[in-house]
Amino acid sequence: MSSASPTSPSPSRSTRARIKSPALLLAESGADLEGHGLRRTMGLFQLVCFGVGAIVGTGIFVGLSDSVAEAGPAVVVSFVLAAVTCIFTAFSFAELGGAIPVSGSSYSFAYATLGERVAFLVGWCLLLEYGVSVSAVAVGWSQYVNELLNSLIGWDLPAALSSGPGDGGVINLPAVVVVMMAATLLVRGIRESAGATAAMAVLKIGILIAFCAIAFTAFEDGHLSPFAPHGMAGVTAGASVAFFSYIGFDAITTAGEEVKNPRRNIPIAIMICIGVVTLLYCAVALGAIGALGADAVGDKPAALSLVVDKVTESSVGGGIIAFGAVVAIASVVLAVMYGQTRILMSMSRDGLIPRVFERVSPKTHTPVANTWIVALVFAVPAAFSSLDVVVNLTTIGTLATMAVVNVAVIALRRRNPELKRSFRVPLYPVSPVLGVGFCLYLMYGTGWTTWVQFSVFLVVGALVYAGYSRSRSRLVSPGAPQDRAAPGPTGG
Ligand code: ALA
Repeated sequence: MSSASPTSPSPSRSTRARIKSPALLLAESGADLEGHGLRRTMGLFQLVCFGVGAIVGTGIFVGLSDSVAEAGPAVVVSFVLAAVTCIFTAFSFAELGGAIPVSGSSYSFAYATLGERVAFLVGWCLLLEYGVSVSAVAVGWSQYVNELLNSLIGWDLPAALSSGPGDGGVINLPAVVVVMMAATLLVRGIRESAGATAAMAVLKIGILIAFCAIAFTAFEDGHLSPFAPHGMAGVTAGASVAFFSYIGFDAITTAGEEVKNPRRNIPIAIMICIGVVTLLYCAVALGAIGALGADAVGDKPAALSLVVDKVTESSVGGGIIAFGAVVAIASVVLAVMYGQTRILMSMSRDGLIPRVFERVSPKTHTPVANTWIVALVFAVPAAFSSLDVVVNLTTIGTLATMAVVNVAVIALRRRNPELKRSFRVPLYPVSPVLGVGFCLYLMYGTGWTTWVQFSVFLVVGALVYAGYSRSRSRLVSPGAPQDRAAPGPTGG
């Protein structure tokens, strides 16, 4: 079936703005579903677990110390500011995900509203949010694997094999292993991957709740003062760091083609995820600071283990937290890698990147070649780089795409007011406008060095678009969309 067949919704293609209509996006995903495409296997519970799996990880287990060092006990305000940014943006994601339930996340939304050039740059920035995150989170996983080995058997891997050259090692083997394990699960199919992710999500929420239960038994009011030792500047910087802990909620929208009843389930799942995670993060931060004091928490990267060790007066608790971190971070790698493969799949279908990324295996119904390419490419920085290098860049890239998503809601309301929406942002247009404002506010908090790096990254992206993607786009190539009628599912 061609996406431009008489039975398809009539696609509008603006060659000037190169905007792809929502009808065309949906027709394309429908065409795939009838052939050798993806299966709709995920229900609401799986989707929420998938979201929590993408969100809760390195940020709370490793990054909490950095946010507390910036903001002191006022880190709870930082978490709320980061959450508010996410909530406004989540409203926008929910409206767009409910209106255009296809894989591709903010990339597809930008294509449907702001045109191909912006969409390509959004996809380019998503390489920071998803691809680079895979490497970064894998490096964090490696650190906790060593902590766990230490508390279980009193032995850990030599530094040469468990950290990259920047951290005094040679190669970070555990980081490479977790990337490859995630790829192996993903190529075996979404049903199994979602099941594994659900189990991990439930386990890590349980571990964080158990942490709170232990930490609050040692809560001391005095540890909350001074509440904001570095004033509003500290709270702002803390919010930018804390935002990393929320990255991933939009991954839910990348699963649009594999979700049952996506118009209903995607918005609900996003709201549940943000609400649950915010409560959990504030409770964990308050519990840790109340038990140990802000200075001690800010000093120690593995603060959660330290709190539990102190309160229980044994090292067993720290081992349990390390186990939780290993599980939590592994599930983030899985979910984030999944998101990256689906975004690349969408970009490939559009002709903006090579076609190998769109191929779906007829045997496993997953994009096998795409997944292995992502794993191999992002295993390289996982093996040789340190966490700090990429976190700020990931944050600013993510915030930039989220600002675009808020703008996209306004553009879609103006361009396609009649489109069926299962969810509409409240207080329109105040909500998306505030969403853009909060994104810019947190981007400001990442500092000028990050802005310079990000600008260079964007310029490179613009050159790639101009030199490769623009001329290969299937939106304007004669007969090109029909190419997708026979996708040639030979991947794998
Ligand atoms: N939010 C994700 C994490 O904290 C990126 O690991």
